[in-house]
Amino acid sequence: MSEKVIKIAILGAGTIGGSVLKVLKDNHDIITQRAGTDIQIKNILVLPHEIPKLHEQGLPATSSYDDILNDPEIQIVVELIGGIKPAKDFILQAMNHGKNVVTANKDVVAQFGSELFETADKNKIDFLFEASVGGAIPIIMPLKRSLTPNKITEVLGIVNGTTNYMLTKMKEDGADYDTVLKEAQAKGYAEANPAADVEGKDAARKIAILASIAFNSRVKFEDVSMEGITKITPEDIRYAAQLGYTVKLLAVGKESDLGVDVRVHPVLLPNKHPLASVNGVFNAIFVRGNPIDEAMFYGPGAGYPTASAVISDIVEIARGIDLGNVGRFGCTCYEQKKICPLDETESSYFLRLLVNDDPGVLGQIATVFGKMNVSLKSVMQTNAEFGEGAEIVVITHEVKHKNILQAEVELKKLSCVNKIFSVIRVEE
Ligand code: HSE
Repeated sequence: MSEKVIKIAILGAGTIGGSVLKVLKDNHDIITQRAGTDIQIKNILVLPHEIPKLHEQGLPATSSYDDILNDPEIQIVVELIGGIKPAKDFILQAMNHGKNVVTANKDVVAQFGSELFETADKNKIDFLFEASVGGAIPIIMPLKRSLTPNKITEVLGIVNGTTNYMLTKMKEDGADYDTVLKEAQAKGYAEANPAADVEGKDAARKIAILASIAFNSRVKFEDVSMEGITKITPEDIRYAAQLGYTVKLLAVGKESDLGVDVRVHPVLLPNKHPLASVNGVFNAIFVRGNPIDEAMFYGPGAGYPTASAVISDIVEIARGIDLGNVGRFGCTCYEQKKICPLDETESSYFLRLLVNDDPGVLGQIATVFGKMNVSLKSVMQTNAEFGEGAEIVVITHEVKHKNILQAEVELKKLSCVNKIFSVIRVEE
């Protein structure tokens, strides 16, 4: 067993912090052997009332961050508090005290990535954040290192477990949004205030991080167009299934001549797409590039397994310290690419309309699509389940977002169109 020791501090002992403490203890020997150094917890920053609990477990604890900043033995600070305040300041302070930093915090990386990397670089320390996207799934290091030779054109992710659980249940049970939300909350998969998950913000932060690395150009949270799952109905999911698709909340990062296209929204994915079979709270990230072609990274996106990603970063830095070689993993955003405007992005679309069941109605609808340069791939008509008339489900060929918005406006003007239930992108 190694006689070398690296001392670390952990900020926060919540779900991820507690899991990291447990895994560092349970897997101590294997981690020490693989790291080549014994990783010891020198201090843990918690609220004053949490200190006795940690002391009972034989663990060190403090509620004063200065105890950690001013401890020269601590070489790695592991930030597991989450959110912007005070986490961002804690990270910057640690860096400015010459300490390497590991974080699981997607909020700070997605919003303040440039500032954090500049500070890390200035202080010649490492800043690693594997757990910020996809929980336990290795994706940041693979993108930064293992996939280095690739020209990456596309990163698609199911990176929010809460919404993936909800959509999976809606498909399996035919249940509606409100019912599955309540169930997800009862199981602890959705928070009492589920806004960040169901409105797509959590996934937007994660795709901002992934796209920045994949395309070597800083993408911030504000750059990501967002649409959540709140309007998805069991009927959309059922029609999609009849047509061979599964509805998913997809985080999309693509590069084209128009720039970097980053967005989060529900999509119909063909059932044969590898991401279509990612169910429940699992996450997956699909990468397309040259020469790798296609690769998919799959696993648990939150909770106890996330300790795996956090500790892998700690070990990576410990190896660097041991070799006298930290500051190896700098910022990879060496280009400044423009963000593709949402209106110019291209997709196929699924539209579901309630129309009068009269002669000539299909013709009027087809004329509007034609005028707006929207070419149709398939059209399905059924008797309306709700109200009088017929339901029409249309799948378009690839069109610009602005054309589909214009078509929607024009369709609403037709007296034969009673309602547009849904307009959802299709990822072919
Ligand atoms: N709320 C997130 C999810 C987990 O549902 O996947 C933390 O990022």
